[in-house]
Parts: sequence; C-alpha cells; structure tokens
Amino acid sequence: MWRFVLYSVLALSVLQGSFAQFSDVFDEELFIKPLPDRFVYSYFQFTTRWELGKNDSLLHTNLVSRPLAELFHHFGVQELRLSFTYGLWRYERWGYPVTDAGPGAEVWAWFDPTADRASVDRRWKMLCGTLSGLFCASLSFIDQSNTFEPAYSLRPQTHHFPGQGEPILRYAALPREIVCTENLTPWAKLLPCRSREGMVSLLVPDSVYASNYHSLGVHMRKLCADAHCSEFQLEVKQTVNVVQDLRLFGGPNWSIRKLFGQGMDGSCALASTSNVYVDVTDNTYDVSQKPDETIQSVRGGARTELHRYDVKHFEMVMAKGRRALFNVAVMDKRDPNVVIVAGPPPISAKRFILGVGQERGKIVTQITNNHWGPLDLVVFENIPWFVPIYLHTLTVRHGEGKIKPAFMHYTPGVQRERPYGLEVGLRIPPRATVELSIDFDYIFLKWQEYPPDANHGHYIPSSIISLLLPSARNYTSVPREASLFRESFNATQLSGYFLQLRTESLLLTLPTPDFSMPYNVICLACTVVALAFGPIHNISTKRIVAKGKEAAKASLSEKVKQFFRITSDEEREQEEEQRAKEAAATAEDLNAPDTE
Ligand SMILES: *[C@@H]1O[C@H](CO)[C@@H](O)[C@H](O)[C@H]1NC(C)=O
Ligand SMILES: *[C@@H]1O[C@H](CO)[C@@H](O)[C@H](O)[C@H]1NC(C)=O
Ligand SMILES: *[C@@H]1O[C@H](CO)[C@@H](O)[C@H](O)[C@H]1NC(C)=O
Ligand SMILES: *[C@@H]1O[C@H](CO)[C@@H](O)[C@H](O)[C@H]1NC(C)=O
Repeated sequence: MWRFVLYSVLALSVLQGSFAQFSDVFDEELFIKPLPDRFVYSYFQFTTRWELGKNDSLLHTNLVSRPLAELFHHFGVQELRLSFTYGLWRYERWGYPVTDAGPGAEVWAWFDPTADRASVDRRWKMLCGTLSGLFCASLSFIDQSNTFEPAYSLRPQTHHFPGQGEPILRYAALPREIVCTENLTPWAKLLPCRSREGMVSLLVPDSVYASNYHSLGVHMRKLCADAHCSEFQLEVKQTVNVVQDLRLFGGPNWSIRKLFGQGMDGSCALASTSNVYVDVTDNTYDVSQKPDETIQSVRGGARTELHRYDVKHFEMVMAKGRRALFNVAVMDKRDPNVVIVAGPPPISAKRFILGVGQERGKIVTQITNNHWGPLDLVVFENIPWFVPIYLHTLTVRHGEGKIKPAFMHYTPGVQRERPYGLEVGLRIPPRATVELSIDFDYIFLKWQEYPPDANHGHYIPSSIISLLLPSARNYTSVPREASLFRESFNATQLSGYFLQLRTESLLLTLPTPDFSMPYNVICLACTVVALAFGPIHNISTKRIVAKGKEAAKASLSEKVKQFFRITSDEEREQEEEQRAKEAAATAEDLNAPDTE
C-alpha cells in the first residue's frame, strides 16, 4: 500500500513539474512477442492519465475523450472494464496474454457504494446502453437476467476511497457478440490522436480481423493521486491483443509491415512516449534494426530480454533526412524442419458439455496444474437462466478421489429473471488435473425466446478462473498498481501474480421446436388457395356470349384471295367446311377466360 502511495506521489510531483497547464499524459506502447509455434502476439496499449484537482470537472477534458469521462461523471463509476474479443486464447501453447478477455463482449463496472441497489441497477442499465451506442455493440441486451455479482472472482483495481464502503459490482458477458470493424472505428476515435497518427495507424481492420485472435479493450479507473485522496487520477487504458499465424505471411520471417500491412509513419504528436518492445528472450531471431535499448527484466524468477525501439527518437532522426516508415524486421534462425513444443504454462483450463440426449447434461471444467506446488483458485461459473443447474450434483474430482471445495458462493437463478452464479474456491494438488462438474436440465423456452437462427444453439459464457501465481513464468501482465507496460519490467511481486483465465464459451443445443412448420403450413395453404382461385374466379366471371353471324363473316384478306383464286366446286365445298370450323374456333376464342 505504501509503495502504492509513494508511486502516486512521485508520479504527481513529476507531472506537476513538467506539465504546468495540462495535467494529463498520454503514452503509447506496443509489445511484440513471437510465440513458440510460429504465431506472433502483439499487444497495443494506449494509456492516458489525468490528474484531477478537487475543483476540476470531468466535463472539461483535454486528452481523455469526453464521452468516456462523462461515464464517470454521470453514472458514479469507479472502475470500468470492457472487452470485445474474437477467437480463443490458447493458454497451453501461447502462455498468458497481458490482458485476458472472454469470447464475445464482456463488461463489468464498479459503482460508488450506495444503500439503494435499485439505483445501481438503473445506472448499470444506462451505462450499458451508453456503451452500446458508443461502441456500436449490442450491450443494450444486458439486463437483470444476464447480470452477475460475483463475490470473489473480480476485485476492484482502484484505491479504497476514504469514508466510502465497498464499491458495488455488476458483471455481464455476451458470448454471441460478433466483433468487427464497426467496433474498432469508434474505439480508435476515443484516442487522443484518433485513428490517424501513431501506433493506432497500424491497426488496419484488414490485418486485425484476419488474425486468429483479437481483443479490443477499454479499462478505466479512478485512482487516488495522493495519500489523503484529496485529488484523483483518471486512468484510461485502451488495449488491443492480436495473435497472427506466421504461416499466412509466407514463412517464419516477419516484420511489422508484413503483419499490419504498413509501417508506422511516426508517433502520435500528443504522446509523451512511444515505444515498441520486441521480446527476444529465445535468442533465435535476428532483428534487422538496432534497438535504442536492450532491456533485461527479471520478474518472479522468469528472465526476459526485450529490444526497445523509441519511435519519437526515430522520428527525430528521420526529420533530418528522408521520410521513412518505422519498421522492425525479424529473421528466424531456427531450422524450419524442427517443430518446437512449448512447455506448458503453470495452469490451464478447458470446459465442455457431457451427456447424451436432450434431457440431462453435465458441464465439466477441467483445470490442469503444471506447477510443482499446490495452487489455490476460485472458479466462477456464470450460467444463464435457461440452463438450470443442480447444486447437489457439484463434484470436484481428482483422479478417483474427490476434493472438498474450500468455500462456495451460490446465487440460485430464477427463470427469465436472474442467472445462476456459482463460485467455488479450490486447492489443486501439484501436477494434477481436477474436474469440476455440475448437472443441468435441457429446458424448453417460449417460442419468442429463441434467437433468429434457432438451430445454431445458445451460448454459455466462459467461466473465469482467478488465482495468484507464485511464479511469473509465461506471465506478462502489468502489476495492479502500475499503469504502463514498461512498469512490468523487474516488477517482482512477493504476494503473487494475479492471473485470470477464461475457458471456452459453450454452445448448447436446447430442444428447438420445428420453426419450419408454420412456414410449411403457410406455403401449403398459399398453394392451395392459388390453385383454387384461378378456376373459381374463372367460373364465376365467365360469360357465354353468342356470336352467330358476325363470326361467320369472311375476313377481308380471304375475300381478296377468293377474288383472285379460280376454284373448283369441290374445293369450294372444302372451303365451306373450313370456314365453318374457323367460325367455331373464333367463337371459342371469344369465350376464353379474360382473366389472364
Ligand atoms: C476550489 O473551489 C473552492 C470554492 O469553490 C475554492 O475556495 C478553492 O480555492 C478552489 N481550489 C482550487 C485549488 O482552485
Ligand atoms: C532489472 O534488474 C536487472 C538486475 O537487477 C538490471 O540489470 C536491469 O537493468 C533492470 N531492468 C530495468 C528495466 O530496470
Ligand atoms: C528467413 O530468413 C533467414 C535468414 O535471413 C533466411 O535464411 C531464410 O531463407 C528466410 N526464410 C524465408 C522463408 O524467407
Ligand atoms: C513458459 O515458460 C517456460 C520457461 O520460461 C518455457 O519453456 C515455455 O515454453 C513457456 N510456455 C509457453 C506456452 O509459452
């Protein structure tokens, strides 16, 4: 805590020294890490920190975008986290990301404490509605029936404000949300340099959305700026995680330009620092550009080596000469025929559905501990109201034996009103896999409750596993009290490294009524009506008109023909017959239906 305070005080004094007029700073960072199996992980972090005096209004912003500051002003939020993710992070092969997020959209907020829970619910609803508009997402579908209030898994990452109680949490996940350019564009517009300048210019939708995994995030929090908390700091972190498969880029050699379609023109003019870090720990790469600095970081027993490239410095050098794009190219020195299998990270998890038929099923979460010591963790299963679970069937199996949960927090769900929230605290023995399973029923929904594509199935959001890792192996997150990525270098935390894992979200096929039946019935009925209509209309509107003499009259052309033709009697007879036939035909024609 004291280090914390010291940090803030230090930061404050530095800031006040250099920025007399504006008390906000903006930093952009990019961290690139080649992953073991020929994937590349890029992490962008755009951080704005704004010192707020007691008299400053959240509505007079400088670098922080006003819509974001207004959220804090209007809804009494202390901390807000929002993510839009596509794909699945593969912990076993890729280690841990800097910021973790579940598939689809995820949002959670900590509100100022108040006794009036209804007002919190109202503010939460309005907050989600506002975010929905701000990011063009379907967050407005969040309501009481899919909002959770976990007690242990999510903890606030802000200071405890003096004279205030515990802030109030609301959490919701929409695993079905599809992330696309229309989320990235408004997200980028919230940055000080918009989407034109600086690192954000690398985030071309083409390359981001062609990746294997990408996650957009916004994390905002209100911090104390000094020990007495008389002044605040508003920290806005906008992050992007992208994982790209190098096989799609024609081999193991890569460069920033190759990955993102273009180099960087320069840094954002409003940024105080603009750094690119390339992880070169494995030392199996040749990096073309000379780094501005080589950083050694030792954190919780794990050693990392990074090259730092200062984009501001690059710009300064370039300003003298020709105009160029910033780029870093990396050549792989490894034998392309050798397949590298990464060692497993300390902990990983999987989730799936078991069972046959459409009556009873079982949700199983499998957690593997590869660490040499036991690990204590909390599993948060967020289960929607349409998946009724039976708490008495909860079992935690380790091989043949069973493990007794250390504690449990269960909020029973109510159909159409409240989801099932289950938090289980466990201790996993070293080098073991445990299986947490719970039974559920498949239920019938009302017909309007099925999504438009009913046979696609229903999603169950991913469960969250939270723990404190004893070592920082495969761990890249920024410490809780720090803001910037560079503050994670040498940041050994004796209390442990807080980690959150998210499992797969599940797709559940609930019994679905035959929605095609009404369609078939309508089609059939329409066909019958159409077939019946023609003849009936015909019969009821047909008039029989006698056309005697007029029809028998020869036409003008025939008269002319007759005049020129020399005909025998026989022929005349035949002609007579012919004429009679024609007359009959004309009469029929006139009687033909006039409906067509
Ligand atoms: C803040 O406002 C109060 C009254 O409105 C005033 O007395 C005080 O001097 C102001 N503080 C600063 C730092 O401007
Ligand atoms: C981290 O610690 C090591 C050894 O203590 C030191 O050599 C290195 O410069 C430090 N790195 C940073 C970024 O401070
Ligand atoms: C990658 O770079 C290395 C070293 O320069 C080179 O030998 C190799 O041919 C390159 N591979 C491809 C696929 O271009
Ligand atoms: C995790 O870290 C260890 C040791 O640093 C390394 O050998 C292993 O490959 C890493 N695993 C992943 C998946 O990154």
